[in-house]
Amino acid sequence: MSTYTAINLVKRPSGPIGPDLFEVVEKTVPELAEGQFLVKQTHMSLDPAMLGWMSPSTDSYIPPVELGTVMRSSGFGEVVASRHSGFSEGDHVMGRFGWQQMALSDGAGVNKLDPTLPAEMVLSVFALPGLTATKGLYDIGKPQAGETLVVSGAAGSVGSIVGQLAKADGLTVVGVVGSDEKADWIVRELGFDGAVNYKTDDLGAQLDALVPDGIDLYFENTGGPIQHRVFERMNAHGRIMVCGMIADYTAREPQPGPSWLNIIRKRLTIQGYTMPDHLHQVPELLAKLTPYVQRGQIKYRAHVLEGLESAMTGLNLFFSGENKGKLIVKL
Ligand SMILES: NC(=O)c1ccc[n+]([C@@H]2O[C@H](COP(=O)([O-])OP(=O)(O)OC[C@H]3O[C@@H](n4cnc5c(N)ncnc54)[C@H](OP(=O)(O)O)[C@@H]3O)[C@@H](O)[C@H]2O)c1
Repeated sequence: MSTYTAINLVKRPSGPIGPDLFEVVEKTVPELAEGQFLVKQTHMSLDPAMLGWMSPSTDSYIPPVELGTVMRSSGFGEVVASRHSGFSEGDHVMGRFGWQQMALSDGAGVNKLDPTLPAEMVLSVFALPGLTATKGLYDIGKPQAGETLVVSGAAGSVGSIVGQLAKADGLTVVGVVGSDEKADWIVRELGFDGAVNYKTDDLGAQLDALVPDGIDLYFENTGGPIQHRVFERMNAHGRIMVCGMIADYTAREPQPGPSWLNIIRKRLTIQGYTMPDHLHQVPELLAKLTPYVQRGQIKYRAHVLEGLESAMTGLNLFFSGENKGKLIVKL
């Protein structure tokens, strides 16, 4: 192909994400300079954080996407031409390729993959979801067999891996989800000990029934009313891993958090983290995660949208909870 399609961000969001924020452009496939290679992207990851990357705020862990430039994203693809000594035609690679069919690279931030791994598995398990789950659970949570963990966003790509790792390590695991279908999936398919549907259950009563001896670890992916109910039930020396607060991403005002009194009374550790700070740890995080995958202890489901342009509305599925598993755009 001598031209390819790309999508630029041209406007900051103030409501639902749609085509008015973007411009679809045709670009000419560039000539390669020495040290460069060209990737044909086949699968793109959509992530809730993209909403933050589109916002004008510069007070975050990563600069916003500049208007008029290709929307930022990670993806999976194949090298189709190379003048780079480390990458050859046919290599399967993962990197920050953006919302476009082809990407020019000098290799920075691009990882070569085992060619036997399917794209959906790479993006659902070994990319951001698995790395984020492994980093938060082990480095911050320090789980011990016999402890009790609650994870919000439990049927999502990060939360489902957190829960399965903790189950494999001998913890009691309860997941918080927004539908009965997701509750069924995490209990029946993934082996969680219980589920709370934050949209329909009496949250306090359901937690009392499922975790009568309190909560040692809380993996926070969402915020919302469940946060207070969990916080009230934390055990002494509990750990809270603050990974995401999706309930606040589209809210005008963030919800007030719980009183800090319990942090003292229960001697809690609460820590936020973002993966871009920990990219140097990717090899060790993958070394920790991979054996669980090899033992068949990590199941995943991918929610695949078809075609580059589906990304423009696909992001809304995160906020309605309609995504069932890792949201991926197949190009
Ligand atoms: N710190 C990091 O480096 C890092 C890295 C990756 C992801 N994250 C964060 O981790 C969280 C999960 O990410 P993911 O990629 O795995 O997404 P995901 O869980 O696969 O999808 C998002 C889910 O959030 C739930 N949700 C949406 N609005 C909600 C609300 N108001 N209250 C409660 N739940 C709500 C929905 O599930 P239900 O149907 O169950 O409501 C939705 O399916 C996000 O907050 C994301 O920003 C952080």
